[in-house]
Amino acid sequence: MRAIAPTTDASETPSLAVNLAPGHPYGVRLRAPVLTASGTFGFGDEYRDIVDLAALGAIVTKTVTPEPREGNRTPRTVETPSGMLNSIGLPNPGGEGAVREKAPIWADLPCPVVVSIAAHDPESWTTLAARFDGLDNVVAIEANLSCPNVAGGLDYSTDPTTAAATLKAVRRGVSLPVIAKLSPNVTDLRPIARAAEDAGADALSLINTLLGMVIDTDAALPFLGAGAGGLSGPAIRPLAVRCVYDVAGTVSIPVIGMGGVVTTDDALQFLMAGASAVQVGTATFREPRTAERVVDGLRGYLERRGLESIGDVVGLARPECASG
Ligand SMILES: Cc1cc2nc3c(=O)[nH]c(=O)nc-3n(C[C@H](O)[C@H](O)[C@H](O)COP(=O)(O)O)c2cc1C
Repeated sequence: MRAIAPTTDASETPSLAVNLAPGHPYGVRLRAPVLTASGTFGFGDEYRDIVDLAALGAIVTKTVTPEPREGNRTPRTVETPSGMLNSIGLPNPGGEGAVREKAPIWADLPCPVVVSIAAHDPESWTTLAARFDGLDNVVAIEANLSCPNVAGGLDYSTDPTTAAATLKAVRRGVSLPVIAKLSPNVTDLRPIARAAEDAGADALSLINTLLGMVIDTDAALPFLGAGAGGLSGPAIRPLAVRCVYDVAGTVSIPVIGMGGVVTTDDALQFLMAGASAVQVGTATFREPRTAERVVDGLRGYLERRGLESIGDVVGLARPECASG
């Protein structure tokens, strides 16, 4: 029997509650519009003694692939101005291992869990997604169409047709809401976002990391073991906010924004650009309680402004709001 932890307190004022899948029969009802970003918060239990998970909207797990993966050659990360470059290569226990080892932990967490998945062909996307349907406290699947660090990973979200076929495959596997995570490594995200929506995505999350490279000049070689990697952190925030602004103006499903969120003001930028929620990634490595602090900061913002609901902030910087 599927059990989902009570995740909203509609009586709370001001209300931070959001539903990230309003078009889906289950919805994704969260008590706060702040989630942790895939790959930066493990599988949830790693932080439970440090972070008040009950304060968060949800955690998004490390991406799980059909088979276990060891990850890429080291070094896997390097610091960059206002950010970091990583090529971790999706180390994870695989679909079967994740259900065996992690599902009992997820069932016990005080916040809901979104399981991030990535596979390699339509059948494997369907089969992998199906493994996570009906697990206690798992409220959605995030289809990572965008990992730059595994061969072929970029294909899923650089071509609208492939993105749509992949999402339909995920949909076939689960009754849960499906969130499509998109890559910024394209000229224009909007056609891909529309294709994902048309294919049945309940929400979109963006952005994943931007392809980059650091050269070790002593060795005269790329610094990372894998060569190139994905850039994240405050360095990418203006770009990410622009992506959210563009995409939120072109789809009618919720958008979850991420890329360099460190402070409450950063989160507000994404929300005002049209995101319904944000994810916190790289900032967690420096301060594990960043997401929790952003939740507190958003509550304080609503109180100071006399606003009743976080929904009052969403899209405020958009022309349609300004003119209305
Ligand atoms: C070390 C590291 C590992 C990541 N692993 C994943 C992953 O497994 N799946 C995924 O969808 N995104 C992954 N990401 C991307 C983040 O979820 C997020 O999209 C990106 O880092 C931008 O947000 P940020 O600037 O707040 O980190 C990873 C990012 C970092 C820094």
